[in-house]
Amino acid sequence: MEKVNRIIFDDQYRLCLLKNKVLEEDRSFCHHNFEHLLTVARLTYLLLLEKECRFISKEMAYSAGLLHDIGRWKEYQGEGDHAGHSAALAESILERAGFKPSEQKLILKAIAQHRHHNPDEHRSPLSEALAKADDLARLCFSCTAQKECRNADRRSHRSGLLY
Ligand SMILES: [Fe+2]
Ligand SMILES: [Fe+2]
Repeated sequence: MEKVNRIIFDDQYRLCLLKNKVLEEDRSFCHHNFEHLLTVARLTYLLLLEKECRFISKEMAYSAGLLHDIGRWKEYQGEGDHAGHSAALAESILERAGFKPSEQKLILKAIAQHRHHNPDEHRSPLSEALAKADDLARLCFSCTAQKECRNADRRSHRSGLLY
């Protein structure tokens, strides 16, 4: 998992996580911290394994999970939905990590599509696994802010609580 390690120790990656942390200090809803990113990375890989999807590597699955919310801080600054920002910020990090252009493209698309996607737009198995993993990663049923959360119903419905 050499490329994944390069992401984890990438300066820009660390800076994004720090910005998320600072801007989420008083947030009652889910945080977009390293723990969330790692949970999503693991679930993305698990879902792909279940699908027996062989053309997406473990490193690609983990990278998509670890990078999918790195632009969240931009959303808090009023710059619109974070999915596109996360993909834009992830581009150079993936390049530095050593992913091939075709791999980068698939990962970036999955990140950009992890919240909303045009139903006419094709979603790769990686895109589908990442979006599902993101919902599964949230333990809405045990969350004290559930009533005020706009995502709780959708997540519980889609994931059937834990799976
Ligand atoms: Fe997200
Ligand atoms: Fe997320």
